Amino acid sequence: MTDKSQAELLALERKYCSWGDTVHYLDPPKSFARSEGSFLYDHDGVPYLDLQMWYSAANFGYANPRLHRVLTRQLETLPQLACQYLHAEKVELAAAIGRLNASRFGMGGRVHFNVGGSQAIEDSLKIVRNATGKTLVFAFMGGYHGRTLAASAITSSYRYRRRFGHFSDRAHFVPFPYCFRCPYEKKVEDCGLYCLKQFEQSFDTEYNSFWDPKAGESEFSAFYVEPIQGTGGYVIPPPGYFAGLKKILDERHILMVDDEIQMGFYRAGKLWAIENFGVAPDIVVFGKALTNGLNPLSGVWAREDLISPAVFPPGSTHSTFSSNTLGTAVGLDVVRMTEECDYEAITRRKGAYFLARIRDLQGRYPKVIGHTDGMGMALRIEICGEDGFRPDRDLADRIFAEGMKGDLHARGRRMGLVLDVGGYYKNVFTLAPSFTITEQEIDLGIEALDQLIRRCAPDRV
Ligand SMILES: Cc1ncc(COP(=O)(O)O)c(C=O)c1O
Repeated sequence: MTDKSQAELLALERKYCSWGDTVHYLDPPKSFARSEGSFLYDHDGVPYLDLQMWYSAANFGYANPRLHRVLTRQLETLPQLACQYLHAEKVELAAAIGRLNASRFGMGGRVHFNVGGSQAIEDSLKIVRNATGKTLVFAFMGGYHGRTLAASAITSSYRYRRRFGHFSDRAHFVPFPYCFRCPYEKKVEDCGLYCLKQFEQSFDTEYNSFWDPKAGESEFSAFYVEPIQGTGGYVIPPPGYFAGLKKILDERHILMVDDEIQMGFYRAGKLWAIENFGVAPDIVVFGKALTNGLNPLSGVWAREDLISPAVFPPGSTHSTFSSNTLGTAVGLDVVRMTEECDYEAITRRKGAYFLARIRDLQGRYPKVIGHTDGMGMALRIEICGEDGFRPDRDLADRIFAEGMKGDLHARGRRMGLVLDVGGYYKNVFTLAPSFTITEQEIDLGIEALDQLIRRCAPDRV
């Protein structure tokens, strides 16, 4: 709590806070006082329906009472402990994820903890380098894996590297099957997964630079994938793509590293989004919703032969806070919740309802919404020009900013709407609502979006 006014806090922020660790989408930046369920509340008590839930970190609702109880209990028993000592929650959480993955992927493995998504990505790079002796990896155009130096090197945007140069090998970026804007200008109905064939052809001859046919070896050790691109705009690949990709990789002894940091923990209707595509990855990286956005914790699960202590010995990576007691206690309860409650059914049902309502909206405003899609509760709305295709970033920005004013009126109450803009052209609303959202709240969100479109694009409705 603070006795400072909002104006005083903003003045202090301008003077003392680095802006390097954040993004100011609004001027002045917005500040909130309270959060609960699907809502953030500003300092006047105005509710803002949050359709993005902290980039999918708070999947189980803000101030989730069950997780708060677990955190409080842990605070009262073992709030701190150096990671060299064991505590039950760490071991049980690793075992739970190990068992879940064994049942899904048919392989034994181990779990390694850290405190942020990017750090877990860094750890996975060490596991890959250690196992293969190689430093080069593939990653997707439009992919996002974090902003530490090594994570930036495998994230598609040069923007995140321009000021800092290289500290690691830049990934080779491969086009993602973004069918609405196919990089090869094909149509998904009859393309025969042309993009996959293009990738496979890279290995046809040594002169394509990836493959030594005499040694039967690729220069690349792994392919980092997001099964559904998050920051890239919740882009869902066509059926068959990932199964085909995994086959190409397996035949060439290239590992698949599955980044589930944003899509994991049922965002896309399954524990891991990759399960939607019938693929068993070699490594899974996770974070965010593992603790519902409470005490930070991230992790890497890897196949036993990649991570067993015999090959990846103690101290290969280390962080003071890596398996912190508060994070592991909440993480363990999140995993238990997912085992006790059928989140697959919940996210499929609520996601289908939401997508149907978004498609109604698209039908009403075809000169504003060019594309919609969804899997589980990962939903996308692509804001386009009157032709339904040209990305309209300005309009997306205006709708976002207007929602944050908190002066919409729906169902007899004043409210705001929290959206996040992503996508290759920054024109996509990436919707990641809370799993606790009700149908009435989804309807409220649609009503708010409808008002925002009418306000921001009156000439196109
Ligand atoms: C898919 C994906 N990977 C990695 C990261 C980086 O995670 P963190 O921001 O916790 O470092 C993110 C964050 O948005 C992400 O969405």
